[in-house]
Amino acid sequence: MAFNYWPFINKNKTTVEKDHQITVIPDHVAIIMDGNGRWAKQRGLPRIAGHKQGMDNVKHIVEVANTYDIKVLTLYAFSTENWKRPEQEVNFLMKLPQEFLSVYLPDLIKENVKIEMIGDIERLPKSTQKAINNAIEKTEHNTGLILNIAMNYGSRLEMVDVVKSIAEDVRSNKLTPDQIDEQTINQRLYTSHLPEPDLLIRTSGEIRLSNFLLWQLAYTEFWFTDAYWPAFSEHEFKQALLAYQQRKRRYGGLE
Ligand code: IPE
Ligand code: IPE
Ligand code: MG
Repeated sequence: MAFNYWPFINKNKTTVEKDHQITVIPDHVAIIMDGNGRWAKQRGLPRIAGHKQGMDNVKHIVEVANTYDIKVLTLYAFSTENWKRPEQEVNFLMKLPQEFLSVYLPDLIKENVKIEMIGDIERLPKSTQKAINNAIEKTEHNTGLILNIAMNYGSRLEMVDVVKSIAEDVRSNKLTPDQIDEQTINQRLYTSHLPEPDLLIRTSGEIRLSNFLLWQLAYTEFWFTDAYWPAFSEHEFKQALLAYQQRKRRYGGLE
């Protein structure tokens, strides 16, 4: 049964120590947290046990990101395609933000983390919407890491929303078609107020984007690991940061 896992929430305090080899810090790190199901399967556990462990790991990785003064951490938690999964799993995933926040919100507030969300919140259960909105409100004035959760997020849905918004403005004569440029689109993205991701990490060995931030990742550096999300550690995160600082970003130009 799904909620038998909650009593085992492990809130052990960890201390993250800064590695001074890491000198170039990306402003915005985006992570496709993949492999929860396989992590569980490997241990003979049901998939939802992997999601629960993955949820605890979110807190740990937030601490690491905050220690390194990363400004924004965007985490892909549920895609617009994940509704295709069995109902029991979807229901469990829908409850996760609420469970996460009921356990960790007090710590996140203390740690100066600002919670935000991208995606279509309307389709989430009312109680999940409420928990997320409450966390956004309670952390609204925090000035530390922005923890941006992508929940019921799909990049194509986001683009459809952008196109609709532009079409509305053209119809009401606020905009003419020849005025449309990249800025017009940027301003309408769910991430309009955030810098573009500098580093994208995907766990679990899959090398694809799965409908994540297609526009925003145009010049992002990618880093992949075979580690499943629940096992993605501080050490792995540091490896990604070390790799990032070796990259030469040219944006189409020359060095
Ligand atoms: C990532 O883990 C979490 C979500 C997509 C919600 P998965 O549930 O995709 O785990 P695998 O990829 O099946 O192992
Ligand atoms: C991507 O993982 C979505 C999230 C991590 C939330 P999936 O497991 O859904 O991606 P695919 O199906 O392997 O592409
Ligand atoms: Mg997966």
